[in-house]
Amino acid sequence: MKAMSNRAVAAVGNLIGGQWEAGRGTFPVYNKFTGDVIAEVGKASREDVERAVSNAWDTFRKERLTPQQRYDILSRAAELFMERKEELALTIVREGGKVLKDARMEVERGIQTFIASAEEAKRLHGSEVPIQGQPGSGDKLAFTIRVPLGVICAITPFNFPFNLVAHKIAPAIAAGNAVVLKPAGVTPQTAAHMANILLEAGLPPGFLNVVNGPGREIGQYLLGDPRIAMYTFTGSSEVGKQIKAGSGVRPVTLELGSNSPNIVHMDAPDLAKAAQLCVTRGFSNAGQACISVQRIYVHRDVYPAFLEMAVEAASKLNVGNPESERTDIGPMISEKEAERAEAWVREAVEGGAAVACGGSRNGAVLQPTIITGATSDMKVMCQEVFAPIVCIVPYEDFDEALRAANDSDYGLQAGLFTSSLQLALRAARELEFGGVIINDVSTFRADIMPYGGVKDSGYGKEGPKYAVEEMTSEKLVVIDI
Ligand code: SIN
Repeated sequence: MKAMSNRAVAAVGNLIGGQWEAGRGTFPVYNKFTGDVIAEVGKASREDVERAVSNAWDTFRKERLTPQQRYDILSRAAELFMERKEELALTIVREGGKVLKDARMEVERGIQTFIASAEEAKRLHGSEVPIQGQPGSGDKLAFTIRVPLGVICAITPFNFPFNLVAHKIAPAIAAGNAVVLKPAGVTPQTAAHMANILLEAGLPPGFLNVVNGPGREIGQYLLGDPRIAMYTFTGSSEVGKQIKAGSGVRPVTLELGSNSPNIVHMDAPDLAKAAQLCVTRGFSNAGQACISVQRIYVHRDVYPAFLEMAVEAASKLNVGNPESERTDIGPMISEKEAERAEAWVREAVEGGAAVACGGSRNGAVLQPTIITGATSDMKVMCQEVFAPIVCIVPYEDFDEALRAANDSDYGLQAGLFTSSLQLALRAARELEFGGVIINDVSTFRADIMPYGGVKDSGYGKEGPKYAVEEMTSEKLVVIDI
């Protein structure tokens, strides 16, 4: 087996036991704007996946990192990410198509995710259980300790190739687990970079193994391995359901899709700001975020003004080369995906909706698109659009807006703009979502928040504190004194 240099990132391989290996055959990674091949990635075979899991399994059984060591490694990695921020951001731009300013922000967010996870390593604790008050317990002492689960399998998406990998790897290490990571096939370089930095920060080989592949094959191998204690996945609801079905009694965290609603009520504190936020956060990352603004319900009294402001804000966005400092919206992840989104727009128009701005496509770049007159059965409304497309729909009363927002198979995050505390609290209670954001958009996320959805949006929570809980179990100890 050919070993690869630990520092080589342009030729990405599979990290097994601290060594980069070439794999069996390669697949290309493209610059999502120019279409050039920027890396050849070694494809993991079934046997490679088996060895990666074995390595993680053996490491977890033989070695233990103390919480102090985990804190030191994760904090040191955060420092190294900071030093190499620009290099990481450019990798995200090229392989992910994310615009430079957003890529820099993603790296900054990822660093915070690492720092917060490092801190959680120090906070892991159980609690005393007062069993002496129970008849028959005598003078026994009972308490719990938080223990790692073992080997965590992390499967990550393309849309945040740094921070969403950070949200899985950093808490898993903070909790004391060993990890096998399968990054998105279209964005493996950022994850390889992260893995190298973790090794440099002192993570012993075997605590992080990385296996690469272009499709779903690697995931199938991983799902079939009984040594994996937990799966943490971000991606489509379809794949999430397969993982839940295939993982048996093992725990899973599933961060899946959504078609996030945002309600703009007639008493929105600042209508112009609401319009600006809905546009910038509906179109940022070319709409490719699970909490991206998608369905915007606007009270009829303010609908005309809101629509005009939203169209004006959208027309000011710079669209094009993600490497330019000035660009706001770059390409989607592939031309195929952009064609799919364009077809959804066409379908909406054929069904009676109108394009208020955008709608055209050049390769993988879809112009930021605002649709009016869409009905709830159209794909752009009822499915996860994952493209720079928003629908603006008027409503008459608040009950109708809540009903429309809840009329979805998904439930990740929702937004509401109102000056009424009463309406805000009512929405917080009645909106069937994992998070309700008042006077900001559904796309808002601070990385320490509990993040996770209901319905087809998934199961379990991320955010370092919550992920560490998901990735540990509370073990009971009873001592007869
Ligand atoms: C996601 O797409 O689920 C992540 C969004 C974010 O972290 O901002």
